[in-house]
Amino acid sequence: MVKKVLFITIAVVLAGFISLQFFQPAPNNAPVTANDLFHHLEVPPAVKNKLQASCYDCHSNQTQYPWYNKVAPLSWVIADHVKNGKEEMNLSEWGQLSKRDKIGVLSGIAEVLEDGSMPLESYLKLHKEARFSAEETEAVTQWAENAMEAVLSAP
Ligand code: HEC
Repeated sequence: MVKKVLFITIAVVLAGFISLQFFQPAPNNAPVTANDLFHHLEVPPAVKNKLQASCYDCHSNQTQYPWYNKVAPLSWVIADHVKNGKEEMNLSEWGQLSKRDKIGVLSGIAEVLEDGSMPLESYLKLHKEARFSAEETEAVTQWAENAMEAVLSAP
């Protein structure tokens, strides 16, 4: 009797899990265009690599989806992060921003690096290479501050 109940429970959970797999979000991506941040600002290679490795998955149109994005409900969590991240800041759309918004983005980057609130903790658990060393935080923050001056003095 107990065995039978256990068997039915497992079968129901498994069927539920399998049926979730039919509901997969579409990739939230687009080709690189001339609006990308890197086409507009001087970005030293080390800073560029760090931004791409740590921020571009949620704040650009160039998300690199991991293999587990094929598994619901993880894929729904990832889709949500990418959607909400891009709503706050999409570095692929840099070229379309007003001067004021550009300053907002750069100061936002410096701010989240200084308070350590980005990248999201759940992301860091699965992406060791996205972590910042003290030197990397310093380099990217310094770059963001210089870039603010460049934006302000641009025509
Ligand atoms: C796993 C996805 C993910 C990664 C990776 C990520 N972010 Fe975010 N980011 C978000 C989401 C989602 C939000 C929306 C607000 C929130 O949930 O905190 C956000 C919000 C922000 C904001 C708006 C201010 C705020 O705190 O709400 C800034 C600025 C920001 N991120 C910068 C960065 C930078 C810089 C990096 C790389 C060092 C980065 N993010 C990496 C998902 C991500």
